[in-house]
Amino acid sequence: MKNGSQLPSHIAIIMDGNGRWAQARGLHRAEGHAEGAKAVRETVRAARELGVKHLTLYAFSIANWGRPRQEVRALMNLLADFAERERHELKDQDIRLNIIGDVEDLPLGPRRALEQTLEFTGDCESMTLSLALSYGGRQDIVNAARALAVRARAGLLLPEEIDERKLGAELSTHGLPPVDMLIRTGGEARVSDFLLFESAYAELVFLPIMWPDFNRSSLEDALETYARRERRFGLTREQLAKQGGRSFDPADATAE
Ligand code: FPP
Repeated sequence: MKNGSQLPSHIAIIMDGNGRWAQARGLHRAEGHAEGAKAVRETVRAARELGVKHLTLYAFSIANWGRPRQEVRALMNLLADFAERERHELKDQDIRLNIIGDVEDLPLGPRRALEQTLEFTGDCESMTLSLALSYGGRQDIVNAARALAVRARAGLLLPEEIDERKLGAELSTHGLPPVDMLIRTGGEARVSDFLLFESAYAELVFLPIMWPDFNRSSLEDALETYARRERRFGLTREQLAKQGGRSFDPADATAE
């Protein structure tokens, strides 16, 4: 067996290519996002059925606030719509909604809808669906550093006591295990400020397809790719063989 586990516990996805998908069809970019929202629904359902425990989707970055006002409004409406329409479906499938990033930055409508779904699905356990909203990986690390500094200044923490676990506990992803596989659609090979700390040992999978074309079979293909990869976490192949091919991200031990 090449991996500690053949099935990634935590999959993160950069859903890129909605705009190009629309433009290639002579449609508005917002229509690409609407089609992307359908791909979100199918992917969430498929991930749950395949036994993935944590799925984190990059739905809106801090940088996305700089997009044309109309496009931002369309995305906010889609998020509100998703939170309202999927609320019962998520609960039925025992999926807990979680948000990383600054939900307070969102307009009141989508924010309320999302908060209601957070509460409604709060006791679900089979899968965590985390939406990254007004999220930036660097900003999240800065916020965590600030929170630790405040505790240190108050005399509650010594600088030498700060370690990966303490920093990780202040990130908005606290409680989630490290990312095992990071998928990006849309043909670009970069991580664009997504889960920088949490993806330290993630397998990166870059796909040429645009996000609205991503479906259950794309996810299954990515899982096959993952199962063929050899994860070594800094060890040698020989050390890995001695452990029966099993290795694990040390940060896994710190996740709840
Ligand atoms: C990037 O594609 C995608 C986004 C900035 C938004 C992602 C949003 C969705 C998939 C739909 C709404 C989400 C949910 C959870 C219901 P892009 O616009 O940058 O594409 P491009 O690179 O082709 O221009």
